[in-house]
Amino acid sequence: MDLEKVTDQITKVLVTGEQIDSRVAEMAAELDSKYDGKDVLLVGVLKGAVMFMADLSRAMQIPVTMDWMAVSSYGSGTQSSGVVRILKDLDADVLGRHVLIVEDIIDSGLTLSWLISNLKARGAASVEIAALLRKPDAAKVEVDVLLVGFDIPNEFVVGYGLDYAERYRSLRGVAVLAPSVYS
Ligand code: PRP
Repeated sequence: MDLEKVTDQITKVLVTGEQIDSRVAEMAAELDSKYDGKDVLLVGVLKGAVMFMADLSRAMQIPVTMDWMAVSSYGSGTQSSGVVRILKDLDADVLGRHVLIVEDIIDSGLTLSWLISNLKARGAASVEIAALLRKPDAAKVEVDVLLVGFDIPNEFVVGYGLDYAERYRSLRGVAVLAPSVYS
């Protein structure tokens, strides 16, 4: 769905679909050269990373395999605690493989920081992160990221995989949700 369809529900467009397309192409080219000749497993974190994974993997020109995890962060309300529970684990064995975690957004960084340790503990040859979005002002832990698409302000954003109450994931771009929608 185009952002124009929800102009009454958003306050600001942060990243358009066209900007995402061109940044994803750049990121894919960097990944192609970094992982050329290597056995790389793209690990998508459900559900938000679905769009990014689909576009990034198709823009890459080296062969990759893909797998998915679903995790849930324990916490009070919207505050992430850093304690993560696996809802759906990988089907693949990561032992000796180069793992690239594909994430839609790094907010506090707690989910990814846990995920990196978890995948390294399983014996992955390397664990790196490609995230489309990052909120530097929301960071609670430093996460070493290989590639970031866009740094964005610490606001409630939706679109391109990101939801509010499961809505807006199919928007082509990323926008700030209007407070009237959730208040
Ligand atoms: C979002 C996002 C990351 C995580 C980032 O997922 O996809 O996985 O939060 O937050 P953090 O950096 O503060 O840990 P969410 O739990 O909203 O699930 P979803 O992808 O299914 O919407």
